Amino acid sequence: MKKRIGVLLSGRGSNFEALADAISAGRIPNAEIALVISNHEDAPGIARARSRGIPALVLPSKGLQREAYDRQAVAALREKQVELVCLAGFMRLLSPFFIQSFPGAILNIHPSLLPSFPGLEAQKQALEYGVKFAGCTVHFVDENLDAGPILLQSVVPVRDDDTEQTLSARILAEEHKLYPEAVRLVLEGRYSIQARRVILTAQDRK
Ligand code: GRF
Repeated sequence: MKKRIGVLLSGRGSNFEALADAISAGRIPNAEIALVISNHEDAPGIARARSRGIPALVLPSKGLQREAYDRQAVAALREKQVELVCLAGFMRLLSPFFIQSFPGAILNIHPSLLPSFPGLEAQKQALEYGVKFAGCTVHFVDENLDAGPILLQSVVPVRDDDTEQTLSARILAEEHKLYPEAVRLVLEGRYSIQARRVILTAQDRK
């Protein structure tokens, strides 16, 4: 049986599409996206999923306590027998209930070189701080914001004439390569975790 991925998003969905494209192209072998969940009905990512024929579910979060929401999401993911959850621009913190429901099997992508610039508007934070290199990070998700063990990172130079838009676009292009690579490594079990360090199997090291 193919390995089943669930994607949670709140907006555009370009990282979801990068994963879907990578699966179609065989760069993530033996996998499928079994479900896309959004907390926003008008998230473009939901329309993108539907146009690809991928099951897409809107679970509105308004007015719901975090865990009550997460119980709905976990039930939907379980129903689809999802084994790996990929956050892709999902703008909510997960509850301990959610984290414990998928131990070691939740990934997130963040548009900075963590632990620098967690949280919102990471690219703007990087630009304002004046760093010369920015980038993106795929990490395992724990109960803290943008904080779990780091799987892969990609470095992007910051140019003197960058705006938030140009820097974000350069980082996003890297995100679209990094996330599929990270998902492949995880689905194939090509890593171990020692304390906070994610150690790749020898053949995957660069
Ligand atoms: C990306 O920059 C991702 O790193 C961050 O949210 C953004 C989502 O973009 N977590 P998209 O919806 O995948 O296009």
